[in-house]
Amino acid sequence: SSPEDALSGESLKDFISSLPSREGWAQPLIRYKGYWFKPGILEGVLHASRAFAPRAADIVLATQPKCGTTWLKALAFTIVNRSRHSLGAHHPLLTHHSQHLVPFIEIPGAAGGHVDLGALPSPRLLATHMPMSLLRPETRSLGCRVVYLCRDPKDTLVSRLHFENKLVAWGGGACLSIDDAFDMFCEGFSPYGPFWDHCLEYWEESVARSDTVLFLKYEEIKSDQMQVVRRLARFLGVPLTEEEERSGVAEEVARMCSFETLTGLEVNQVGGVSHGNKVHVDNSVFYRKGEVGDWANHMSREMGEKLDRIIQQKLQGSGLVF
Ligand code: A3P
Repeated sequence: SSPEDALSGESLKDFISSLPSREGWAQPLIRYKGYWFKPGILEGVLHASRAFAPRAADIVLATQPKCGTTWLKALAFTIVNRSRHSLGAHHPLLTHHSQHLVPFIEIPGAAGGHVDLGALPSPRLLATHMPMSLLRPETRSLGCRVVYLCRDPKDTLVSRLHFENKLVAWGGGACLSIDDAFDMFCEGFSPYGPFWDHCLEYWEESVARSDTVLFLKYEEIKSDQMQVVRRLARFLGVPLTEEEERSGVAEEVARMCSFETLTGLEVNQVGGVSHGNKVHVDNSVFYRKGEVGDWANHMSREMGEKLDRIIQQKLQGSGLVF
C-alpha cells in the first residue's frame, strides 16, 4: 500500500494537486504511478484502491476509454443475466443505457447515480478503466475474472478526439485539433494512458493466467460477434447450451447489442449524466460511428504509419500486435 491510501477529503485533494499536471485535453491530466488521469477520476482511483473490496466471484470489464466499453458492458450484461432477463421486449438494455447497467469501480456517478458496490449481490458485474497495476491485488489473488477489451489505437484516438470535443463544447471551450491530439497520444499523454502500457499490463496477465483474464479486441468482435458471444459466455462460466445454440441465442445477443439496435433506442438518444459541476456526458455520446478504420477519414496515411511504428516498438517482444 502507498501513503496516499490513508488520505481522504481535503488531504486527498492536496495530494492530487501536488502531483505533476499537464494541460492539453479537455481537462488537465495528472500523472500518478506512470499513468495520466483527470483530477476527478484520480480521486475515484485513489478511493477505489483503498475502499474497494474485490470478491472472488466478481467479473471485471476492463478497457481504456473509447475502446468499446459501452459495447462490452451490453454484451456481458446480456450474457450473464440471460436466465433472469430473457432476450425479449422487456430486456433492461432496451430502457437503460448500457453504461448504467454496469457500474465503474472508480467512477461512482457514471451509472446514472451513486452505486454502493459493497451492497451489490454476487456475482457482481463491474467495469474499470484502471490499469491492472492499480486494481486491488486481491483481484488477482482471489482469481476474479477480468475481460479486457482494446482497440486499434488509431481508431481509439479518433474516437477520443470526438468525445473530448463534446466535453469541451459543453464547457464552452475551444475544440482540439487532430494534430494536437495525435502528438499528445503519441507521447503517451492521454486519459488513462500511455495507451500501450495499459494494453500491455492486461495482455501479459492474459498470457500468464488465461483462465482468469480474457483479452479481446474491438475488431474481432466486429468481424465475428457470435463467436465472441460464445467465447464470453464460456469464459464467464455460463456457456451456451445446445438448446440455446439451436434457438439462435448467440445471434440474438449479438443483434440486441449491435450498434444499429442500441442507437435506435430512445434511451441512447436523450438524457445524460452529470459528474459534479465540471463534466456532463450525454447518453448519445457513447455512440458515434462504431466502425473499424474510421481513423483514415481524420488522419493522414503518414500519421497512421507513425502511430503504428510507435505502437509496434512499444509492444515489441510481447506477442501483442495491432
Ligand atoms: P467511435 O467513436 O469510433 O464510433 P467506449 O464505450 O469505450 O467509450 O467506446 C466508444 C466507441 O465504441 C465509439 O466508437 C462508439 O461508437 C463505439 N460503440 C459503442 N457501442 C457500440 C456497439 N454496440 N457496437 C460497436 N461499436 C460501439
